[in-house]
Amino acid sequence: MTRKILITSALPYANGPIHLGHLVEYIQTDIWARFQKMRGHECWYVCADDAHGTPIMLRARQEGIEPEELIERVAKEHQADFAGFSVGFDNYHSTHSEENRHYSELIYCNNRDAGHIAKRMITQAYDPVENMFLPDRFIKGTCPKCGAEDQYGDNCEVCGASYSPSELKNPHSAVSGAKPIDKESDHYFFKLANFEEMLKKWTRAGHLQKEMANKLDEWFESGLQEWDISRDAPYFGFEIPDHPGKYFYVWLDAPIGYLASFRNLCDKTDGLEFENYWNTDSDAEVYHFIGKDIVYFHCLFFPAMLDGAGFRKPTAVFAHGFLTVDGQKMSKSRGTFIKASTYLEHLNPEYLRYYFAAKLGAGVDDIDLNLEDFAQRVNSDLVGKFVNIASRFAGFINKRFDGKLAAELNDMALFDSFSNAGDSIAAAYEGREYSRAVREIMALADKANQYVDEQKPWIVAKEEGKDEELHQICSMGINLFRLLAIYLKPILPKTVEAAEEFLKVEALTWEDAASPLLDHDISKFKALMTRVESKQIEAMVEGSKEDLAPSAKQVKQEKPATDMEAIAPTIEFDDFAKLDLRIARIAKAEHVEGADKLLQLTLDLGGETRNVFAGIKSAYDPSDLEGKLTVMVANLAPRKMRFGLSEGMVLAAGPGGDELYILNPDEGAKPGMRVK
Ligand code: MSP
Ligand code: ZN
Repeated sequence: MTRKILITSALPYANGPIHLGHLVEYIQTDIWARFQKMRGHECWYVCADDAHGTPIMLRARQEGIEPEELIERVAKEHQADFAGFSVGFDNYHSTHSEENRHYSELIYCNNRDAGHIAKRMITQAYDPVENMFLPDRFIKGTCPKCGAEDQYGDNCEVCGASYSPSELKNPHSAVSGAKPIDKESDHYFFKLANFEEMLKKWTRAGHLQKEMANKLDEWFESGLQEWDISRDAPYFGFEIPDHPGKYFYVWLDAPIGYLASFRNLCDKTDGLEFENYWNTDSDAEVYHFIGKDIVYFHCLFFPAMLDGAGFRKPTAVFAHGFLTVDGQKMSKSRGTFIKASTYLEHLNPEYLRYYFAAKLGAGVDDIDLNLEDFAQRVNSDLVGKFVNIASRFAGFINKRFDGKLAAELNDMALFDSFSNAGDSIAAAYEGREYSRAVREIMALADKANQYVDEQKPWIVAKEEGKDEELHQICSMGINLFRLLAIYLKPILPKTVEAAEEFLKVEALTWEDAASPLLDHDISKFKALMTRVESKQIEAMVEGSKEDLAPSAKQVKQEKPATDMEAIAPTIEFDDFAKLDLRIARIAKAEHVEGADKLLQLTLDLGGETRNVFAGIKSAYDPSDLEGKLTVMVANLAPRKMRFGLSEGMVLAAGPGGDELYILNPDEGAKPGMRVK
């Protein structure tokens, strides 16, 4: 049965960068969405920036720009970060949008008309210089308990006490520094208690994790308070329809942003109907992934508002824990407050997707990014076990069997054991038990490697008359690799995309695991992933420290921070000028009888030809080379080799084996041109 599924992640605030803590959530959700899509369901994953509220208004003011300009810039940054980690939203919108205004007004008006909104006068701290009411976080002063100075209006970071802003000693506005005064104002409240019965039932009807439902019980016990949903001008948000000068509190319109983003998607997508997903009689499923810090909003206010306005409620809300790095809260000074963009400068995003998946369960436990464990795990599992399998067989298939897999597999029992394991892995994904999925997939990878070790294709390859056997072994190996790629695809979308290219197959779906790939051409193997080097991690941590000091950062960006070979000692220009590098056309490329590394190349320099022996046989087929332009050292002293005279050298990069890449000049270059 094809399910209709709408998935969201919490909307990130539009006043700060995405960091690795956020990514726990977006990666967790993305894996689930990709899994559902691979299963063939109609699945939509939407998100948006949460663009309203006092902090965003003040931040823009600080930068001397309009809030619209700030949120537009941040929206671009956020989307670049998400794209960098392959978080594949079907739509990314903003809460500062017409769709969101529409649904916020509608949901408010429906609730008002149904008698769920109250009006009351309240007294609040007010900044008499800036003429604005001050949220608790924008009042600072001396802690009433321990006397620490410069503490926030809601709690003390030194002694941990919580209190109300009126208890602070020497209170002052964090915006202007002025002493706040008390001022009265009319506020609008959502009568949450009207929904108590509904909520008590809903929170126990399988929509929430156990831990969350228990947490909510505590709140029911202490009584559901009316929720203040209005703020006075100046405020960056939507004005309340019948109350000019009053604005919806950011947390009213933020979750409605899920509906707004989906509406925006529907308007762009043929045949996708908003009502089919959000009407009370909808047969679609709606899921919200959130952090455990925003459960109250998503499991009480939001379902109540939807209910009061005649919309359906979520099928489930999935909360996750918080990220720690090396066992501690992320810290700017330790360099563990790592921005998504800083990570991307140094490391492959698929490493982090894998590591988080390996640690995520269905509960709300915090998860720890242990940097040493991270490197070790990625290297041993992904590079050592998964990617390795393909590289151990691909060469034989290419060199001995013309790149073609066998027409059938003799040992279908082995294939079936891998294929049948898919159900349990799928159940783990479905239940958000990614760590279990990863464990089961890696157990299969171990089995596949064990198969190679037992079958020893490198020995069979040298034995007379064992072609058929070698073909069987390698075709099986490639098929086992393909099944692992299918199972890992929700976690490693980019790596598996490269694997699909290698296998020359369409985008793999879950169903593809049912049958083997037979009598099928594959391409040459290119390394799918490289090892994590501790140098890269160190550079990322250093880079995160430097994010604090923008001037230091500039210096750093100049040196590439990767696992690069050290740069050779400096030479003078004259030394360089002695080299005569030329564009050459590979007129002919041939195998050399008796040479296992060399190809013989005839290079055309546009008038003159050269005979060159190049050690690139492990990476290139002669037929792939003929006609190509490349770069050669033309004035290297000729060298007498066992197979003949080599009159120069072609240039190539890479560590060797399969990974050797000859240079290609840009279009327009002609044989004989000097490279300088
Ligand atoms: N704007 C609100 C959400 C509105 S949803 C209608 C918000 N934004 S946030 O940018 O602070 O956080 C976005 C999501 O990232 C939240 O679900 C939050 O729990 C999650 N995380 C933020 N920091 C995190 C960690 N350090 N670890 C794990 N998740 C974290 O809240
Ligand atoms: Zn204190």
